[in-house]
Amino acid sequence: MNIAIIGTGYVGLVTGACFAQAGFNVTCLDKDLHKIALLRQGRMPFHEPGLEALIAEGQASGRLSFQSTLEPDLSLERAEAIFLAVGTPTGPDGRAALADLLECAGLLARTLTHGAVIVIKSTVPVGTCEQVRSTLETQSPFIPPPRFTVASNPEFLAEGRAIEDFRHPGRIVIGCDDAQACRVLRTLYAPFDPDGSRTLVMDVRSAEFAKYACNAALAARISMINELACIAGQLAVDMRAVCKVLTSDPRIGRHYLKPGAGYGGSCLPKDLRALIAMAQDHGEPAYLLHSVETVNTGQCERLLDTLRACMAYDFKGRCVALWGLTFKADTDDMREAPSLALAHGLLEAGARVQAYDPVAGQSAQALLADPMFEPCADAYRACEGADVLVVMTDWEEFRRADFARVAERLSLSLVFDCRQIYEAASLARHGLRHLEIGQRPPAAASRPFIDALQSAV
Ligand SMILES: NC(=O)c1ccc[n+]([C@@H]2O[C@H](COP(=O)([O-])OP(=O)(O)OC[C@H]3O[C@@H](n4cnc5c(N)ncnc54)[C@H](O)[C@@H]3O)[C@@H](O)[C@H]2O)c1
Repeated sequence: MNIAIIGTGYVGLVTGACFAQAGFNVTCLDKDLHKIALLRQGRMPFHEPGLEALIAEGQASGRLSFQSTLEPDLSLERAEAIFLAVGTPTGPDGRAALADLLECAGLLARTLTHGAVIVIKSTVPVGTCEQVRSTLETQSPFIPPPRFTVASNPEFLAEGRAIEDFRHPGRIVIGCDDAQACRVLRTLYAPFDPDGSRTLVMDVRSAEFAKYACNAALAARISMINELACIAGQLAVDMRAVCKVLTSDPRIGRHYLKPGAGYGGSCLPKDLRALIAMAQDHGEPAYLLHSVETVNTGQCERLLDTLRACMAYDFKGRCVALWGLTFKADTDDMREAPSLALAHGLLEAGARVQAYDPVAGQSAQALLADPMFEPCADAYRACEGADVLVVMTDWEEFRRADFARVAERLSLSLVFDCRQIYEAASLARHGLRHLEIGQRPPAAASRPFIDALQSAV
């Protein structure tokens, strides 16, 4: 089967490469000419483990090709299914901005002389598939317009393990009101779910909503555990012990229950905002979703407060080493990364920030253009002359850090472990103090720490 995918980003490119490997003929299209040129040369526009090899395999097999939407070819005409995987970022009013998606609908309306199954893979508000179908029909210059079917097929992959997630999905959601569209999508996903047990077929609107429901549930867990950690910290409770109790309950489950710097990335924050807007448009107050957001936006302020207390309430002349800039490990995506919010807050308060990230150091420079911000070439260079180290992302190399080298470099001998990747005892062997989300900063409790702080001034 020939398929086309418009939007060659984190989702579209992985989807295209995986479908090509499964034996389908795939054309990935994008309006970004630079991206298409890079991909045609076998070069990657972003970091995703395993994707470069998969793309090379697809190109070598002749089943994967790249095309600009600005240079029309026959790939759209030939495609039996056309996936739309363009971005749906937050618009100025908090709603999902659909301009890119509707631009694609306009392109398809002008291009397609025959009917096709249009599959919306982007995360979109309820009713968008219907809006796309009506755009296709009203903008088609052909009389009568071809018969378009628009199906919803939200994506659940996570960056950093996107290929694994796509090939072995927890579930495949197909939202369609048309038997032919359903058959096409079942055929496409059969290689990834041979017995069909993980494929959930429903109406279009429910499929659109299901994606928001999942992201709201994940965001709520994160905010809940972060709030619990902060309360626990005030009560001198060991939150790691509490987490073991929580996660041992099968009704609660194991995932997304680690206190941290708050959720970020290109999905959870914007999807929560879009869901709240959808609720409000329909007169639903969405009290819980608002609280989830409030806890999350307050999390960065809490991190800053903790660091401020560590620095005797004055960031002037202080330097913070930051490890990890992306919103999570194994991706170069810095959209709404908590580390950026923290770095901005530190810089605004007068601190210097020396940051290291295994893949995103250079792009961070553009996002944090400030003379007091220095992206560093390696993790230990970032600690050189810094007072404290804040670990924001759990990249594998941070787990294997050489604490002796860290300890030599930090004047206040403090590691703020926002990912719970270290044990206090291993750090203590090197004279380093360990601080986690919710825990009270040592300056508030310990005389030796205050002495160290003063002698470091
Ligand atoms: N990134 C994720 O982890 C993830 C996971 C699940 C769902 N999603 C959803 O998938 C969608 C895509 O996300 P992404 O992270 O892949 O976005 P992205 O920003 O990485 O990629 C979007 C691509 O679409 C292209 N594009 C935009 N308008 C276009 C147009 N009119 N014609 C052709 N190309 C166009 C852009 O140039 C870009 O390359 C979003 O709705 C997102 O919420 C993302």
